[in-house]
Amino acid sequence: MTSAASPVESIRTRIEAREAVVGVIGLGYVGLPLALLFEESGFPVVGFDVDPEKPRALHAGASYIRHIGPERVAASFRRGRIRATADFAKLSECDAILVCVPTPLGRHREPDLSYIRSTADVIARQLRPGQLVVLESTTYPGTTREELLPRLSAGGLACGRDFFLAFSPEREDPGNERFSTKNIPKVVGGIDGASRDVAVALYAGALDRVVPVSSAEVAESAKLLENIFRSVNIALVNEMKVLFDRMGIDVWEVIEAAKTKPFGFMPFYPGPGLGGHCIPLDPFYLSWKAAEYGVWARFIELAGEINASMPRYVVDRTVEALNAQGKSVKGARVLVLGLSYKADIDDDRESPSFELLEGFRDKGAEIAYCDPYVPVARKGRHHDLGLASVPCTAEEFARHDALVISTAHRDFKDLALYAKARLVVDTRNVVPPAALAPGVLVRA
Ligand SMILES: NC(=O)c1ccc[n+]([C@@H]2O[C@H](COP(=O)([O-])OP(=O)(O)OC[C@H]3O[C@@H](n4cnc5c(N)ncnc54)[C@H](O)[C@@H]3O)[C@@H](O)[C@H]2O)c1
Repeated sequence: MTSAASPVESIRTRIEAREAVVGVIGLGYVGLPLALLFEESGFPVVGFDVDPEKPRALHAGASYIRHIGPERVAASFRRGRIRATADFAKLSECDAILVCVPTPLGRHREPDLSYIRSTADVIARQLRPGQLVVLESTTYPGTTREELLPRLSAGGLACGRDFFLAFSPEREDPGNERFSTKNIPKVVGGIDGASRDVAVALYAGALDRVVPVSSAEVAESAKLLENIFRSVNIALVNEMKVLFDRMGIDVWEVIEAAKTKPFGFMPFYPGPGLGGHCIPLDPFYLSWKAAEYGVWARFIELAGEINASMPRYVVDRTVEALNAQGKSVKGARVLVLGLSYKADIDDDRESPSFELLEGFRDKGAEIAYCDPYVPVARKGRHHDLGLASVPCTAEEFARHDALVISTAHRDFKDLALYAKARLVVDTRNVVPPAALAPGVLVRA
């Protein structure tokens, strides 16, 4: 690099030489694996988080995310190329800054961009020529251009010439053994061509496949389309579940049959409602933005309505099944199996199990949950159950009037657990239909 190198030449040379320092802001489910991947690919990395516990844990070789093993964290930090910190002054040392902060919904299901805005303000205060900033948080089309660009340009630096700005959505699937950050193709769209090319060069240094698109807006929209596709199809199959159940048809058997079609069909599975940081929230980022253009995103709203009604449906089915056994839900002991939103992971964000538990509690049941992955139900933004997991044993299960399977954890597939069960309400096809007496097993 010569002193006459332009900002674009300077950062490209540093990326090619793997000298570019990669900063990752927000060391959660998305940011931590991304930071580790860049380190493992030979880049110096600085991870930033407002929660000082996270840098401290990482430097001690610990992992606070179950599917990211502590040995992987410890190996990375031992090599000495990665640091984690709550000191955002170190942003000025970074050549690339990847933003992975939360994008939740507000109380009225409106996008909460406060994390993105405050992060943009922190970056803006230290922005220098030659830096690349990439937003990875899921958000509505236009966020990068409307929210980040003005803040980053306010100090007089020009995007595409002095600094570079792009959007590249994350596609993490926690717990997926086939696909991880490295081999999931990464879509990248820039505010301008130069920004896109610099961002593509950076990601190509660590990921197997990068997919450039013509703008940041296309990249933002692609992520939302992916998540809305899932939300709508899950809603469809949830609606089919309710209908087939009335008709005495097992929806799970129907899906198994339908998926033998080798083309034009993709299986989605019913459940007790949507969970996780993405599918229950992200679609509403787009429906909110659609209103600005006078468009009603009806599929998004309808899918949201159907999926959101599922916990109530499961509670109602359980009440009916208890009634059929001559029991009232009031005073009944109801055990919900699984607090995380997905099998074999420890992420309980937006999990429908919370709504099930609250639904039963509101009807006067004595509630408890069992989840080997979530020993204590932490206080969240919307829920505060004040419960800890009961043991996953047949003796414990026999103490409850109803077991409601909400998450298909491997641990719950041991049929011996249900030997003395009085009622099992299965929302996940965990217990085969013939395994328990009719009247004891109910699909919901
Ligand atoms: N979890 C997933 O599977 C997934 C998949 C695709 C996309 N996303 C998107 O990625 C983004 C991040 O999600 P996540 O699951 O990693 O969230 P997360 O809650 O696991 O992690 C976010 C991290 O950011 C930190 N943080 C909060 N405010 C900050 C700030 N101002 N500065 C620095 N750090 C801050 C938090 O302490 C936390 O460690 C969201 O937009 C989400 O929609 C998540």
